[in-house]
Amino acid sequence: MTRNQKKKPSATKTGKPVGVRKGRFRSEMDPLFARFNASIAVDHRLFEHDIRGSIAHARMLARQEIISRDDARKLETGLRSVLERIRRGEIRFREELEDVHVNIEEALRQEIGEVAGKLHTARSRNDQIALDLRMYLLDEVERLQQYLRELMAALVDTAEQNMELVMPGYTHLQRGQPVRLAHHLMAYFEMFRRDWQRLSDSVSRIDRMPLGSAALAGTTFPVDREWVARELGFSSVAANSMDAVSDRDFAVEFAFDCAMMMMHLSRLAEELILWASQEFGFCSLPDDFCSGSSIMPQKKNPDACELIRAKTGRVYGDLMALLTVLKALPLTYNKDLQEDKEPVFDCLDTVSMSIRIMAGLISGARFHGEKMLEAASDPTLAATDLADSYVRQGKPFREAHAAVGAIMRGRSERSGYGRMKGVSLSAPEEMVEARKHIGGTARARVKEQIRDARGFLKKSGEKSARSRSGR
Ligand code: ARG
Repeated sequence: MTRNQKKKPSATKTGKPVGVRKGRFRSEMDPLFARFNASIAVDHRLFEHDIRGSIAHARMLARQEIISRDDARKLETGLRSVLERIRRGEIRFREELEDVHVNIEEALRQEIGEVAGKLHTARSRNDQIALDLRMYLLDEVERLQQYLRELMAALVDTAEQNMELVMPGYTHLQRGQPVRLAHHLMAYFEMFRRDWQRLSDSVSRIDRMPLGSAALAGTTFPVDREWVARELGFSSVAANSMDAVSDRDFAVEFAFDCAMMMMHLSRLAEELILWASQEFGFCSLPDDFCSGSSIMPQKKNPDACELIRAKTGRVYGDLMALLTVLKALPLTYNKDLQEDKEPVFDCLDTVSMSIRIMAGLISGARFHGEKMLEAASDPTLAATDLADSYVRQGKPFREAHAAVGAIMRGRSERSGYGRMKGVSLSAPEEMVEARKHIGGTARARVKEQIRDARGFLKKSGEKSARSRSGR
């Protein structure tokens, strides 16, 4: 090969254009650009939803007499067989066919011939990808909510089984006041309940059917968008075609929901790491979720917790990536939008695994009541209750606070009970039982939280069963 030939631009290469390049282009893509441009390695995950959407679209085209009933039947049979063949691993997706849409259309053409070309009537990949991603997320949000329910159930069970364990509650990671372990665990239940609800709220914004928007302006064919929406289980049709093909707010929102879940998980992971340390000794983590050291034979490391803690950063990164892809993007579709899938799938995968692993950690953890009680029996934890008792004797709280503060300072200067001798301190159990208002750590109130939590788990389970049958 001469130097000259080497320099020839790729446009003169002889590869015949395939897929959407037919017609407009004389040559195949530069191989490097083909790899850069292709999204099939990522969006192949959407194949089931892509085909479901295409079947509904084909049926609608026939109902509206845009294509013949016969053609629609061929398209549907062909699509079903492509679906089966993909499931069986018989179809190899090709990079030169760019994405999941073109790959499936090409597989359909192999299956039923040129009539496959009618499927894309009144449709663009721009509304098609918006549809696929929305359908996919509607299913995945429901799965994620189910994982969350399993984690919440693990927290409730563990709280119930350990109702009598009392430990120090912390602020600034300094011992503050005694609490029930169950109360502490139920605080996480509240976080994950909010996460579950946040996902539910987000559904109303994912659940809008974009098909019919075509490239951006709509289509000249008399499509029935409402029929397609009903057929695919959507509750409404996107109101503006330009918004419909460029909107990824629902993806950003989903990534935010994932980021929030990871943040919650990372806090719980961090507490488990602390509690399982020799310094705390409050719990032992299950062997099947811990790793050993290659050199120190005694080690049992909380790697699962540490990875959850670290992967939180990765999910924040996905959220930032999505926001940045969308920043300053003019209407309507831009290829930038293809970069949305990787972060969406990554946060979905990461948060799904993290939630399930956390459920295993919580169910398998063993809590050491004696160690917790020993820490909770630190007399300084009684300081607030001592001040409260002075208030009951008529002292203003601020004075009582200062008086007890002075006792505590004396104690820490001399170390040991010192001047605390002579003041009667409440035992940890008494102190937790004294907090018997709504939301307090007394046994009856924690039991109430658990009852409420079980009610929520039951109701939310029924709700997701309903939505499954609806879609
Ligand atoms: N693979 C594309 C994506 O994920 C599908 C839409 C392509 N549209 C286009 N006009 N090139 O966004």
